[in-house]
Amino acid sequence: MLKTRRILVSGAGSGIGEAIARLFHARGARVALMDRNGPAVERLAEDLPGALALPCDVSDAAGVAAAVARSVETMAGLDGVVNVAGVDLVRDFATTTPEDWQRVMDVNLGGPVNICRAALPALCAAEGATIVNIASAAGLRPLAQRTAYCTSKAALVMFTKALALEVARNGPRVNVVCPGIIDTPMLRVSYEHAADPAAAYREIVARPAMGRAGEPADIAEAALYLTGPGSGFVTGTVLTVDGGRAFH
Ligand SMILES: NC(=O)c1ccc[n+]([C@@H]2O[C@H](COP(=O)([O-])OP(=O)(O)OC[C@H]3O[C@@H](n4cnc5c(N)ncnc54)[C@H](O)[C@@H]3O)[C@@H](O)[C@H]2O)c1
Repeated sequence: MLKTRRILVSGAGSGIGEAIARLFHARGARVALMDRNGPAVERLAEDLPGALALPCDVSDAAGVAAAVARSVETMAGLDGVVNVAGVDLVRDFATTTPEDWQRVMDVNLGGPVNICRAALPALCAAEGATIVNIASAAGLRPLAQRTAYCTSKAALVMFTKALALEVARNGPRVNVVCPGIIDTPMLRVSYEHAADPAAAYREIVARPAMGRAGEPADIAEAALYLTGPGSGFVTGTVLTVDGGRAFH
């Protein structure tokens, strides 16, 4: 399904990004694996023949430009990007410092912006190119103690729509997936340090209508749909994959 497609996945060192890289590779794509955790993407690249490891902090615009240029050169072009790298921050607004706020914005919004800016010329030169951004159901429906996180993800949803509109006639299709609660290291750290981790977990999984967490594979399948030819007439759309949370 993705044969001959060359796809860059950020945040490929863990959780959802790793699941997307593995699924896309299994479906025939050549993948470039970007993450600030260099050893993680180097290990994954050894597992996925033909994959390229790109250790890089997505908030560093110059570093991203160099890494994207390297992937375009190595793979002789680029057909798609999936922006997955992101950070969580669970903190009352009153104690969220300007530095905390800026870091969340720089990674969750600035990262995809940096990658899209660097990748756009190659994507515009490719046939049927795609961008998929991974935002969050928390960008559609607010959560307490996550003002910076929710704001960064809501901004990423609107960045997706505005860019989709701008490049619709001569550039990539641009779509966004909003995951709900997904069982990854990011989710685990959000409850493991609670006074009662089991109670904290029960409270988290009570939010979606389906009453449970999803798996990274659920998001990988959504990203595959939006990257593959089956979604050829889909751009600027928000695909919510959250076990029924944001709709009620
Ligand atoms: N797990 C969930 O419940 C959930 C829900 C909604 C949205 N999301 C979003 O999905 C994405 C992936 O989350 P996950 O749960 O797989 O988390 P994760 O922590 O397991 O993986 C995140 C990956 O991003 C990388 N990363 C973080 N900051 C980076 C940076 N500045 N530069 C490069 N790489 C960086 C990390 O090294 C890690 O490999 C995030 O954007 C997250 O906000 C997750």
